Amino acid sequence: MTVLTEIDHVAIAVHDLEAAIAYYRDTFGCEVTHREIVERDGVEEALLQVADSYIQLLTPTRDDSPVAKALATRGEGLHHVGYRVEDCAAALARVKAEGHRVIDEEPRPGSRGTTVAFLHPKSAFGTLIELVQE
Ligand code: CO
Repeated sequence: MTVLTEIDHVAIAVHDLEAAIAYYRDTFGCEVTHREIVERDGVEEALLQVADSYIQLLTPTRDDSPVAKALATRGEGLHHVGYRVEDCAAALARVKAEGHRVIDEEPRPGSRGTTVAFLHPKSAFGTLIELVQE
């Protein structure tokens, strides 16, 4: 068994959350199953379920949020991939033990009552990775 048990979500940064929701609804029939404003991260998210995973549409709620910076520098598009893990703390410890850079030194609360930790894209071949424990 691998440390990563499932793709939890693919996160996409967008300027207009309602327009992006309408795109996925009208084009693919996807419905929003969860919406949340995550104050700590300065984002509003909408989750659209695809099988056991989600498309996570993200838009910033303030100018200094990381997603606002990503939109300003890279424009809309893929922001990060969330991988489900059984034990976020153990997975994070393993990443650090392997000598890889992380953004969160300790697991922290995510949306939907999850426990999460972000890993640094510079150590992960250019992809921002989020470990997600349900
Ligand atoms: Co995420």
